[in-house]
Amino acid sequence: RIAGPCGMVLFGVTGDLSRKKVMPAIYDLANRGLLPPGFSLVGFARRDWADQDFAQIVHDSVKQYARTEFREEVWNQLAEGFRFVSGSFDDDDAFERLRRTIEELDEVRGTGGNHAFYLAIPPGAFGTVAQQLREHGLAESAPDSDAWRRVVIEKPFGHDLASARVLNDQLDAVFAPSSIFRIDHYLGKETVQNILATRFANTMFEPLWNNNYVDHIQITMAEDVGIGGRAGYYDGIGAARDVIQNHLLQLMALVAMEEPTTFEAEDLRHEKQKLLASISLPPRLDVATARGQYAAGWAGGAKVAGFHDEDGISPTSHTETFAAITLHVDNRRWAGVPFYLRTGKRLGRRVTEVAVVFKRSPHQPFNATSVEDLTQNALVIRVQPDEGMTLRFGAKVPGTQMEIRDVNMDFAYGGTFTESSPEAYERLILDVLLGDPPLFPRHEEVELSWKILDPILERWAAKGEPESYPPGTWGPASADAMLARDGRVWRRP
Ligand code: BG6
Repeated sequence: RIAGPCGMVLFGVTGDLSRKKVMPAIYDLANRGLLPPGFSLVGFARRDWADQDFAQIVHDSVKQYARTEFREEVWNQLAEGFRFVSGSFDDDDAFERLRRTIEELDEVRGTGGNHAFYLAIPPGAFGTVAQQLREHGLAESAPDSDAWRRVVIEKPFGHDLASARVLNDQLDAVFAPSSIFRIDHYLGKETVQNILATRFANTMFEPLWNNNYVDHIQITMAEDVGIGGRAGYYDGIGAARDVIQNHLLQLMALVAMEEPTTFEAEDLRHEKQKLLASISLPPRLDVATARGQYAAGWAGGAKVAGFHDEDGISPTSHTETFAAITLHVDNRRWAGVPFYLRTGKRLGRRVTEVAVVFKRSPHQPFNATSVEDLTQNALVIRVQPDEGMTLRFGAKVPGTQMEIRDVNMDFAYGGTFTESSPEAYERLILDVLLGDPPLFPRHEEVELSWKILDPILERWAAKGEPESYPPGTWGPASADAMLARDGRVWRRP
């Protein structure tokens, strides 16, 4: 899978995402030989830069963040296709210059009129940029050509359902749905794609994958870091909008959806969409959700600031840095099986996992002391950082007595495959350039996800201050109470 002749225009070149993810991924793709030789990259920003200044920025980012080794010849060939256009998003002249730059690149680099516009900018600016692209004839290729134009957007896809609809309308007014690529980088992760392989390439999991055998499912995305320098983005957004609306609900959809007819985009998205549409909230949101905010304290042996003391955060901010929610799926497969989702910053460690926890055996022919240390069987899909899967079940402890204890059967990517995993952004950017859409959520999925979250967010907003939790722990006490109420406990990964 190698991209044909094409180029990319990157809006928001000075942002974190461009520097840490997009630019290094482009270099890595070039280094792996997956980009066409004449690939071009146009940076668009307000800075008064020349092409060489932009090239320097990309160079620094590649040196710092690329995953593959730096090779002079790859870099030189790539850098010949770098251009910079200086201007603000409402500057017509700048978009004219952009148009001429693209035409020039089609000539000298053979990009063939194929260009992706990557909007690594705040969503408030999507509408303006999309309009400008249309007005300057950039959103569509010439009517007599089969060249393509695509737009790539990053979350947050809105702030709630109403704003997500406005955003979708703004993009739909300019680009055809098949030309809009919404990045959810979790879908670019190998271990996330492997959920589908695990479920649908094997016989042994799917017969158990329902309410006859599954007691509940826990989806955890924990980070040990705080918000870093991202106060401007994070304050007012919070943990639920930042990652539950997108990454965690997408994970849940892949874990819980029915088998798609094929893995073509249409079929896959259709099943995810059906699943998202069947999610319901429990009646008592006050006890079926929890939210918190990290306090000052110690993490990894160092003193760390509380959320309120972070640079750029108001001391009265009610933004949550931890969120846990209970969801139900109203269909035959999942009726009565709660899905517990949680995420937070400054937690005990960085880990993302999905734990499918099975019901206890309906009968134990052993006496009570034999099985007192036995917990519930579980299949844990370790998304990161220790990629793999663990099956937990009971086994007899060697000895003269019948004592049964939990043991683990492990699959680790590191010890199994010699192939290395591409970084999520590499995979997704390549898919954009190839026009391959299965890993990109569509418009309806985004709106359904907001529909699930909106009532929770409204309730939290009315409640005021989140509960504080010490750094390095697993969140506020109310998160434990949320599960204890159902007679369950969170896993300690
Ligand atoms: C991003 C969130 O989408 O995902 C960040 O905005 C979060 O707040 C990041 O830190 C985590 O990504 P990953 O791939 O490291 O789990």
